[in-house]
Amino acid sequence: MNSQTKRTVVVTGGTGGIGLQSALGIARTGDRVVITGRDRARGAASRQRIIDETGNPDVALVIGDLSSVAGIDALARTLLEQLERIDVLVNNAGYLGSERQDSDDGVEMHFAVNVLAPWRLTHALLPALRAAGSARVLNVTGGDKPAAVDVDNLQAEKGFKGLMTYTHSKSALESMSMALAGALEPEGITVNVVFPGRASTAMTRSLTLSGLPGMMKLMLPFFRLFFAEDGGKSAAKAAASTIWGATSRDLDGVTGRYFDTSTAERQLHPTALDPQVQAKILAVIESAAPTPRG
Ligand SMILES: NC(=O)c1ccc[n+]([C@@H]2O[C@H](COP(=O)([O-])OP(=O)(O)OC[C@H]3O[C@@H](n4cnc5c(N)ncnc54)[C@H](OP(=O)(O)O)[C@@H]3O)[C@@H](O)[C@H]2O)c1
Repeated sequence: MNSQTKRTVVVTGGTGGIGLQSALGIARTGDRVVITGRDRARGAASRQRIIDETGNPDVALVIGDLSSVAGIDALARTLLEQLERIDVLVNNAGYLGSERQDSDDGVEMHFAVNVLAPWRLTHALLPALRAAGSARVLNVTGGDKPAAVDVDNLQAEKGFKGLMTYTHSKSALESMSMALAGALEPEGITVNVVFPGRASTAMTRSLTLSGLPGMMKLMLPFFRLFFAEDGGKSAAKAAASTIWGATSRDLDGVTGRYFDTSTAERQLHPTALDPQVQAKILAVIESAAPTPRG
């Protein structure tokens, strides 16, 4: 990537938590930053904060809900109307729920927001990603380390377990990302996974007893202590891998990799690289709606 050229970086869920801290870090490099979220007032305040703190006036806000196919498509349409090119797409918005919930499309909500949305949004934005020449896609994962995907449990068929269902959806995201990297390689678009590490954010502070399975319930007081409001300090630290992934030239031409919170490359779980696993994940995605092939 040419550091002399002003690039456009889209950060989904860039209105709060790690996404906001990522957007702040990226805006400091002078790139144009577009943040997305559902809440307009919060988004507008975050946009202003990025402008004020970085001195970069080129920050835009686009509102959209990634929990449904209709919402993803509407967000993509708005982004395509406003942006001729997207150099970096950071699929950062994520979902952690304590109770089982299905999306409007009848897809378990963790799979819908954490797996289906980044796949579909990336495809819907292909015209702008292609226009950038050598665009990057970064998918933000979770869980402690790459873990196995159970293809018979993609939508918590074996029982909803809050935090564990969230973690499993992130393993599915890693596998989907490898399929996406393969699909977009001929277009010169790279796809990598970044792991931010734990941070006190709206997501982690929303954890309740019912979101913790079995004996993990005993851990709630420790979680509360660990994830106590810290004014964005831990989120700023956690944003380092995304900022690096979006801006470092070290990632030029690199695709299909996983980078941890210290930006070191880590091995993916073998299931992430298994074409049969990937095919099962894509089948669930396609069952909600056929992928747009723009
Ligand atoms: N926090 C951690 O410890 C941790 C650890 C590992 C990985 N991660 C991952 O890091 C990413 C960011 O997490 P976070 O902790 O920073 O979360 P967060 O503080 O809850 O922020 C989430 C962001 O996404 C937006 N968002 C949430 N649901 C959305 C939806 N359905 N459609 C569109 N936008 C939506 C939110 O804005 P609105 O509410 O206005 O929509 C907000 O901007 C996630 O992918 C998460 O899984 C977090």
